[in-house]
Amino acid sequence: MRPKQLAAYLVTAAVTAGPLAATGADQPEHNMHRQHMQHEQHAMPQAPDDTRPLVALPEQMRLHMLSNMRDHLLALQQIQDALANERFDNAAQIAEERLGMTSLELHGAHDVARHMPAPMRKIGSGMHRAASQFAIAAGDASASGDVKPALAALANVTAQCVACHEGFRVQ
Ligand code: HEC
Repeated sequence: MRPKQLAAYLVTAAVTAGPLAATGADQPEHNMHRQHMQHEQHAMPQAPDDTRPLVALPEQMRLHMLSNMRDHLLALQQIQDALANERFDNAAQIAEERLGMTSLELHGAHDVARHMPAPMRKIGSGMHRAASQFAIAAGDASASGDVKPALAALANVTAQCVACHEGFRVQ
């Protein structure tokens, strides 16, 4: 954060938090609240109700899809590692081949997509598109040296993972 931004942030924080922030008087209460929350988590181990609709897939297809999912997560990790080390073209290649439009054949996406409700299918193709857009942004970063647009494009990829996981389950 640049000094000017930091100053603006501090002013906003002070205004939002009100007089308590200036005295630090909210700290003990805050800590107690946290302890209370932790305590409650121990006392209530049940998971919240899972209200997501179940998408029925043939067993082989379900296992295949979950295996693809684990590779999606691995691909994200490898992309972040590549970005951190300024291997932008490498990041672009991983995204395109493992998550982007090019990956559709590899994943047998058309077969699985037939079993998905339309909104789920839409998020799936949104993810492939977002990954291809990220690949372009990562390629641009190697020319411009500015990684921010690529990071924003990557967040748009993970937003599709989140949307689908929030909306559907297969088991
Ligand atoms: C079109 C929907 C969809 C998209 C997009 C999607 N997922 Fe999934 N994913 C699922 C579903 C459904 C499950 C199973 C969840 C359940 O049944 O509780 C799953 C499960 C997983 C799992 C657990 C695998 C296992 O072995 O149980 C991982 C890891 C995962 N997804 C990662 C990702 C990542 C990373 C992305 C984005 C790059 C992503 N997924 C995008 C639908 C999707």
